[in-house]
Amino acid sequence: MERLQKVIAHAGFASRRKAEELIKEGHVRVNGKTVKELGVKVSSSDRVEVNGIPVEREEPVYFLLYKPRGVISSVTDDKGRKVVTDFFQQIEQRIYPVGRLDFDTSGLLLLTNDGEFANLLMHPKNEIEKVYVAKVKGIPSREKMRSLEKGVRLEDGKTAPAKTKVLSIDKKKQTAIIELTIHEGRNRQVRRMLEAIGHPVIKLKRERYGFLTLQGLKAGEARELTAHEVKQLRTLSKS
Ligand code: URA
Repeated sequence: MERLQKVIAHAGFASRRKAEELIKEGHVRVNGKTVKELGVKVSSSDRVEVNGIPVEREEPVYFLLYKPRGVISSVTDDKGRKVVTDFFQQIEQRIYPVGRLDFDTSGLLLLTNDGEFANLLMHPKNEIEKVYVAKVKGIPSREKMRSLEKGVRLEDGKTAPAKTKVLSIDKKKQTAIIELTIHEGRNRQVRRMLEAIGHPVIKLKRERYGFLTLQGLKAGEARELTAHEVKQLRTLSKS
């Protein structure tokens, strides 16, 4: 379900603010009935009209991008830095990222123009498993790894239990590569968790999102999700 003003704005009828005015002034009908309140949410099966003209929804599209480092997870950047939608210049639909990866994090990022789908995946209760591979400073002890598994105290609360694996260590350089599987999606969570145990991140990559991997893609490449994958993601986030 999406807010009526957002649907109107997305369809290119008006800005979000103008869409709100159109609703308040009684120009908008949903399934034939005039709606003047702003809180109303509509689904893709609802018929929305502005001044009697049907609002054509953009065809929903779903992409998986292998985000390179040094790219902003946004649709615009006021400092003119590269943004994730720059990789989709041939796509007509107005897509945006589902959640975010930090500027310096690479890896799997989904993009869509389907707000309902994006909200579903991002909802904190829909604990989709995300797998990160991090190169960290120092070599974490078993106890430190166990503390990640139990949950570490961050300024915004204790983290949910994580799964961890040490993939390799470099004794000479005093670095380690570790795999961390988490369900939550707090801001800079992996970096903060590893910082909290005294092993700051040198490099970070998201390898997996639910059942989706980066297989077959190089950094900067994207592919469309199959209808089956979209359906599976919906099921996964509702379960
Ligand atoms: N955790 C982080 O710290 N950064 C990301 O980009 C994603 C998860």
